[in-house]
Amino acid sequence: MSASQKRIEELVRILNKANIDYFKNDNPSLGDNEYDHLLQELKRLEEEHPKFLSPNSPTQKVGGFVSEKFEKVIHKQPMLSLNNAFSADDLRKFDERIQKEYPNPTYSCELKIDGLAVNLEYIDGKLNVASTRGDGQVGENITENIKTIKTLPHQLSKPLSFEVRGEVYMPKKSFEKLNEERKANEEMLFQNPRNAAAGTLRQLDSKIVAKRNLNIFLYNLVDAKDYNYQHEVLALFEELGLNTNPLGRIVKNVEEMIAYVSEFERQKNELDYEIDGIVIKVNELKAHETIGYTSKHPKWAIAYKFQAEQATTKILGITFQVGRTGSITPVCELEPVFLSGSTIKRATLHNEDYCKLKDIRIGASVVIQKAGDVIPEVAETIKDEEFYQLEAFTMINNCPSCDFELVKKDAEHFCLNKSCPEKELASLRHFCERNAMNIESMGEKILEQFYEKGFLKNIFDIYELKNRYEELIELPGLGVKSIQKILDNVESSKNNSLDKLLFGLGIRNVGAKAAKVLAKSFRSLERLSQATAEELNAIMDIGEIISFNVTIFFQENPAIIEKIKSYGINTVYDGVEIKTDHFFSGKSVVITGTLENIKRNELTETLENLGAKVLNSVSKKLDFLICGKEAGTKLDKAKEFGVRIIEEEELKGLIV
Ligand code: IVH
Repeated sequence: MSASQKRIEELVRILNKANIDYFKNDNPSLGDNEYDHLLQELKRLEEEHPKFLSPNSPTQKVGGFVSEKFEKVIHKQPMLSLNNAFSADDLRKFDERIQKEYPNPTYSCELKIDGLAVNLEYIDGKLNVASTRGDGQVGENITENIKTIKTLPHQLSKPLSFEVRGEVYMPKKSFEKLNEERKANEEMLFQNPRNAAAGTLRQLDSKIVAKRNLNIFLYNLVDAKDYNYQHEVLALFEELGLNTNPLGRIVKNVEEMIAYVSEFERQKNELDYEIDGIVIKVNELKAHETIGYTSKHPKWAIAYKFQAEQATTKILGITFQVGRTGSITPVCELEPVFLSGSTIKRATLHNEDYCKLKDIRIGASVVIQKAGDVIPEVAETIKDEEFYQLEAFTMINNCPSCDFELVKKDAEHFCLNKSCPEKELASLRHFCERNAMNIESMGEKILEQFYEKGFLKNIFDIYELKNRYEELIELPGLGVKSIQKILDNVESSKNNSLDKLLFGLGIRNVGAKAAKVLAKSFRSLERLSQATAEELNAIMDIGEIISFNVTIFFQENPAIIEKIKSYGINTVYDGVEIKTDHFFSGKSVVITGTLENIKRNELTETLENLGAKVLNSVSKKLDFLICGKEAGTKLDKAKEFGVRIIEEEELKGLIV
């Protein structure tokens, strides 16, 4: 067998498996970039050697599967996928191809929402059947689940009959919250918002779906012969009450198209939802038939895929971190490498299953990327010759800190030893961190040193440190001055607002955000401790799991408030009361452009305290756009929708 044939067969196998993992298991085994990369390679090889092309090849099929769990729906028109572009050059070639068939088109540039494509059938304005893409020909009937999406009308404002297509997605915030809750329940985490949306939409119990805050943007009308332009269709959707993405734009030529693409490649992380590229469609609908289709793609549209920022480096070693809850996380130590603005020395390996899936080995070369642009992770292990000489990954059986036998729950391993030193240290570190009590001078090294000496075991010992002054100044490496600074910091931490204390206590699932919401709502630790799970659950942004964990925490620690108070630690929230009678109260606001006299996060906080809701994207329903210098698309959109625009100068007078 020739090398090319071997590689083609290998690629077909890898990509077909990746398709099953992605579409059926909602648990991708390849990164999007990696997948696209390998698919391009396969396409090229098949073009060079057409005799090895197999009907089983992923290049011959629209990816996707139909689950037996749901009733099947045959699509009246197949749900195709889009051809990809990866560079400005690819876009220019796309434009050239279009111009040959249809000169001087305009283009509808739309964000490529990273979710799940669905088809909705409305009959006389009533939502009748909703289905997933499935294999492109046959999808799954998910009507009941779709009906739980709050922003989707079951009845349109006009009695029209048609099929529309769009993308169901999970907003980033809801995804984070869902994963926090799943972590608390020790359930498998979703890898990204797309998988969370896919997993949710395929739930058999629509009550669960209803709780998960899915959303939808509609972007295509199936049989659009009565309309001339894509932008007209999108405007019709809005008129009927169907959500469209407000950030789309009609452009007149390829240069404007490229400018749009790079604008959103830069801004993508600021959005409330994930996008993985830009979809470009010929705006003139009449041209679609002229330009035509291949068996897989329409030729009148293309998907520009963003590049994930990646770098190649080597795994020097693997260590195991013990978290506050006893969760064990393998971490790889890397040969330092520079990636999107910082030097990366470590990357998370999540858990044992992940290490096996990625075939992690010490000494291997790996491609790393920033997940969600924050935590670096391994995108791909490079399987060069050297790789096969390396030893495969093995998970540890005992806690690296206390040697307790580890317990596996779903994909994660835990140390259940209540007095595991690493767990205790992790709780202490957490208590001192910036978003918690912010005891700045008590860095990791010092905490460890104090812990080893037996000065610290739990958070209250921090407030006993002043009684050990004589012992502390004896410690090597710490002068009188630094000890004094630590003790001063500890003292002043007592005045922190309740939200910081609450976060520092490390109640399961109560992150910095939830702590703030709880502190704002209850204003004192006593009041919070008396709240029932129902009362907590009724608060916006507080879910069942947090409510449950908060009540459990106070039940398990009945004396904690008294103890906290005995150290003179503040237990009330010192933030301002949220206004209900201000100009901004109850209004929705978006901030854009560069502000000269106030930082964006400060302004957000001020507006929130005045009772405003600060959002990220401009829609028709928005009340105000606060606009600094060099504002871009958001300003254009606000003008288009007739949203009131407030400039910085005017703002000064309004926020007093
Ligand atoms: S149009 C035949 N518009 O991207 C054209 N697709 O690879 C159908 N997507 O399956 C798609 N945002 O799941 C279109 N504004 C948008 C989109 C979009 C996201 C997804 C959709 C589609 C895939 C194409």
